Amino acid sequence: MATRSALINVMAKAAEKAARGLKRDFGEVENLQVSRKGPADFVSAADLKAEKTIREELSRARPGYGFLMEESGAVAPSDDSGRRWIVDPLDGTTNFLHGLPQFAISIALEERGEIIAGLIYDPIKDDLFHAERGGGAFHNDRRLRVSSRNRLAESLIATGAPYIGHGDRERYLGEIDAVMEQTAGIRRWGSAALDLAYVAAGRFDAFWEWGLSAWDIAAGTILVREAGGYVSELNGKTINLESGSILASNNNIHSDLMKLLRKPLGNQRAR
Ligand code: IPD
Ligand code: CA
Ligand code: CA
Repeated sequence: MATRSALINVMAKAAEKAARGLKRDFGEVENLQVSRKGPADFVSAADLKAEKTIREELSRARPGYGFLMEESGAVAPSDDSGRRWIVDPLDGTTNFLHGLPQFAISIALEERGEIIAGLIYDPIKDDLFHAERGGGAFHNDRRLRVSSRNRLAESLIATGAPYIGHGDRERYLGEIDAVMEQTAGIRRWGSAALDLAYVAAGRFDAFWEWGLSAWDIAAGTILVREAGGYVSELNGKTINLESGSILASNNNIHSDLMKLLRKPLGNQRAR
């Protein structure tokens, strides 16, 4: 068991407070006791409420830090720390809306462009994942390590798929075709933050997706790195959170998987 730092305690307190509201609201979605305005409005209200709680808690603890939040956008730091919180108050909204217990709160701390801490909290399973630069990654305060599999044929790969109005289906179908052919399986669980936490925990051997936003992946990238994994853009470049393109793995299978994912792009260019 590790002792949490003051910074992680601040992040955990904010996430746990917001999680209490999300858990209550999820219970109502499950029982279909949602407002007359319909489940989508109810869930978006739950999302906004969680973001407000997180913002208030983090601001109280670290008044000068800035924010990049999914619902309320960017706020520059008011002190000279160069730090801002990157927050997704509810990652896995579609799951939440459908009563599927796979969603999380994701909070990262960025300092002058570099992620220095990350926390992902799944309120239903009470799974708290956290990491700080140079300090390792933890799951409920037990040290995490990525998997050691080095053969694609034994690897379980997580991903995110295009959906109505989002993404390039043709490109994606090429990618899953290539990955399906060579690996032990693919999972699309609907929360990029938890997908990354699971790579850090060695449950998944890798995760890829594109078209994401900084708040979906900021906390997950440091978790994977601190658990001994490797994170890049899909083309292998150093990750820029704004690009929304990510390949995170246990390191061993990174280049093999990258080659597989490049093939469909090559095929498309040839068409
Ligand atoms: C979504 C989830 C999902 C991913 C989508 C994201 P949201 O975030 O992370 O797994 O495939 O691209 O937008 O909308 O539930 O916060
Ligand atoms: Ca998200
Ligand atoms: Ca969200």
